[in-house]
Amino acid sequence: MSEQPPVKQQGEALENLYHEHRSFPPSAEFAAAAVAQPELYEDAAAAGPEFWARQARDLLSWDEDFTQTLDFSDAPFAKWFVGGKLNASYNALDRHVEQGRGDRVAIYFEGEPGDTRTYTYAQLTEEVKKAANAFESLGVSKGDRVAVYLPMIPEAVITMLACARIGAVHSVVFGGFSADALRSRIDDAEAKLVVTADGSYRRGKPTQLKPAVDESLVRDGHSVQHVLVVKRNGEPVDWTDGRDVWWDDAVATASAEHTPVPHDSEHPLFILYTSGTTGKPKGILHTTGGYLTQTAFTHLATFDLKPETDVYWCTADVGWVTGHSYVTYAPLVNGATQLMYEGTPDTPHQGRWWELVEKYKVSILYTAPTAIRTCMKWGRDIPGKFNLDSIRVLGTVGEPINPEAWMWYRTVIGGNGGKKEIPAPIVDTWWQTETGAHMIAPMPGVTATKPGSAQVPVPGISVDVVDEMGQPVPNGSGGFLVVKEPWPAMLRGIWGDPQRFKDTYWSRFDNMYFAGDGAKKDEDGDIWLLGRVDDVMNVSGHRLSTTEIESALVSHPSVAEAAVVGAVDETTGEAVVAFVILRGSAKDDADIVTTLRNHVGKEIGPIAKPRHILVVPELPKTRSGKIMRRLLKDVAEGREPGDSSTLADNTVMSQIAESLRK
Ligand code: WTA
Repeated sequence: MSEQPPVKQQGEALENLYHEHRSFPPSAEFAAAAVAQPELYEDAAAAGPEFWARQARDLLSWDEDFTQTLDFSDAPFAKWFVGGKLNASYNALDRHVEQGRGDRVAIYFEGEPGDTRTYTYAQLTEEVKKAANAFESLGVSKGDRVAVYLPMIPEAVITMLACARIGAVHSVVFGGFSADALRSRIDDAEAKLVVTADGSYRRGKPTQLKPAVDESLVRDGHSVQHVLVVKRNGEPVDWTDGRDVWWDDAVATASAEHTPVPHDSEHPLFILYTSGTTGKPKGILHTTGGYLTQTAFTHLATFDLKPETDVYWCTADVGWVTGHSYVTYAPLVNGATQLMYEGTPDTPHQGRWWELVEKYKVSILYTAPTAIRTCMKWGRDIPGKFNLDSIRVLGTVGEPINPEAWMWYRTVIGGNGGKKEIPAPIVDTWWQTETGAHMIAPMPGVTATKPGSAQVPVPGISVDVVDEMGQPVPNGSGGFLVVKEPWPAMLRGIWGDPQRFKDTYWSRFDNMYFAGDGAKKDEDGDIWLLGRVDDVMNVSGHRLSTTEIESALVSHPSVAEAAVVGAVDETTGEAVVAFVILRGSAKDDADIVTTLRNHVGKEIGPIAKPRHILVVPELPKTRSGKIMRRLLKDVAEGREPGDSSTLADNTVMSQIAESLRK
């Protein structure tokens, strides 16, 4: 925990938000035709967990019905839909084909160089069946773990669903993580198979992935038997005979017949590593029935999805939870048609996204505030060149959205550059890797939306904002965000570490899930998220741990001590700023900053490289030896440092200031 309560720490943000009073009710037309109607809230409140039982039976096909909705007798470990059996891949694929939706497009894929592929539900089902057979022939069976290190290409979705089909547990590692980070995740989950690609494309240039996999497996003592390699960009790759297998050899030649076996509702579906407050990433574990129920339900209700007519596009990478829940699972379980795009928004030009919206007539767009702010910076003329009339719902996720970016998104994107009389509603969705699915979000046909607020819990979800003592705060006040009742898509634990699960989320307050976010309730009781209250940073919507980056820095022989803070950044939300104390001769090394940035890139990945590294003679510490990051944050953000009276040595801040002036 940081030494400051969130409300003070986020004082400035809070101040700004208190002045935000606009609200935008849905149009009568939208409201009348919306999937989520006002009664949904009343139904959910009256039914309790049975509300979710209804969704589970309505939205999913079960091979065996469940006998108990929720078993929380071993709290905080929950079991949902006990006794039920189902197959996630059958739910996402086969059943659509069996029910006559085989010709509907499941995925429009657009590669960064402009190559395209289209998969109907029938075609995607066939690909997943082949991949499932190929994985089995490589020795993967139910319960085995598969590490997935792939770019945003259809094979990523195919791999995840093929794992789910055979009951193997996928662990997707974002392609921006380094070989070292990949290896620690492979080891933690004891993955038997790694699925990767030669590489991908980024900003018009080929990138590489396979070399990082090779590097991660150089050191013996790992669990990997095979590396399956998708050919994407044709870059040359090294080959380890007997271990490495081309996707095209194994999958393309595999049989297209594969019968899905039913798995228990609580069978592990995937592990996804995320940063916490310690140096070691946590393997967040999700299981099948509850996860699919809440992701599918929220995908329909929050986005007002009409699967027959909508074209949905979530810009998240499958390496993050948003890509798991709202690219791979929910859209396919709901039979939606979605766009998948491999590359960056500015290649070959800054209008690429909007060109795609126009080309595919995207009607639901789900992206992150950082992307919206970047597009704002590029200017409204760029989206203005394209016809965005098809858009009818906009979503955001990953970090708080400032009202200015929200208004821009509404007018320029949702309002087709001001040409639309009634712009598309925006749903600001708050959730986490741990929650699996949306927890707080407006319903677009019900809620009068407010710029910058996620506002209301999803029907069936119980959240609150509490003070230090765990007491609900009154409207108009801030505190800590908690979840009060178990929810279907909740994490089932941390892979291999049940105690850490309890300590991290369930020990701060009695019987409540501690999310790690600060929040306030406005005068209407609507919830505004204020950012993390722990040592987790949010850079462009990516979660990074200050401690993890500090560990990476001190693992370099030149570094004696390091402290990392997230400094407010207009575009990326936060930027990583590191303060380091160097050892002996390193002090004379003119390239030390570059060396250390690259070292962090190697240890964790390019996304974790500090924006700035400041070499200082000392770090501000309390008498108990705790680094006062708050003071460093002041320095990083160019403010006069605040109260430093609790420092063990109160000359430290002036020493730091002095050294930075040099
Ligand atoms: C932040 C991403 C404000 C929050 C789905 C949370 C948000 C962390 C929002 C989880 C939002 C996510 N408004 N903050 N709408 N959505 N966050 O695990 O701090 O990558 O705890 O999951 O992102 O990040 P994660």
